[in-house]
Amino acid sequence: MSIAIAIDGPAGAGKSTIARLAAKELGYIYVDTGALYRTIGLAAFRRGLTAENKEQIIAMLPEIKVTLAFNDCQEQIVLLDGEDVSGLIRTPEISMMASAVSAIPEVRAYLLDLQRDMAHTNNVIMDGRDIGTVVLPDAKIKIFLSASPECRARRRYDELIEKGMDVKYEDILTDVIARDYADSHRDIAPLKPADDAINVDTSGEDLETSVNKLLGIMRERL
Ligand code: C5P
Repeated sequence: MSIAIAIDGPAGAGKSTIARLAAKELGYIYVDTGALYRTIGLAAFRRGLTAENKEQIIAMLPEIKVTLAFNDCQEQIVLLDGEDVSGLIRTPEISMMASAVSAIPEVRAYLLDLQRDMAHTNNVIMDGRDIGTVVLPDAKIKIFLSASPECRARRRYDELIEKGMDVKYEDILTDVIARDYADSHRDIAPLKPADDAINVDTSGEDLETSVNKLLGIMRERL
């Protein structure tokens, strides 16, 4: 039986960085489910669709193929119709598109088996918004990771600047607040802690402290 650890929380709480490092430490596979929604967002964007084109986005689903794969370093890559789009999905535009497509029930249903299959065949740390509540309700450990909007925006800003992107902190903060609102107020799989989740706040903590805190929680319960 494979073991699953679910980490949910809002954008920029440090989920992916912390989960990636913790997975390496435990020898688990790290699955970033946001990348799947981003890939669908990218596919819609490339077709010139916007958040308003719900029907066209649904009609697009059978025409595209989204695949999760792992490179030689066991890092996740995501393929859209065979093309590695892992880098292309990390722009603020695609973040907003991902949030828009993720509110469509058909999109969530489309990605459900892909996520569950990963967890059935591997020990995983899976991060997202609804992993503990919907995707893997029987996960052995559920963590809800958060931090203040300002702190999360600052982290995302630093990340994008480091990648050489031309972005403004204020725009990122506005995006973070808008995405939080959209993610936690949608009808389907809204962002909220599972009843049995452990809540962890990483505001003001450096990465090492957060990773160690999470590893401590995990090791205690595994
Ligand atoms: O985690 P990340 O910021 O990459 O996710 C992009 C968007 O995908 C989120 O804003 C959220 O709307 C959506 N998402 C989701 N469910 C997940 C993972 C991501 O709805 N499990």
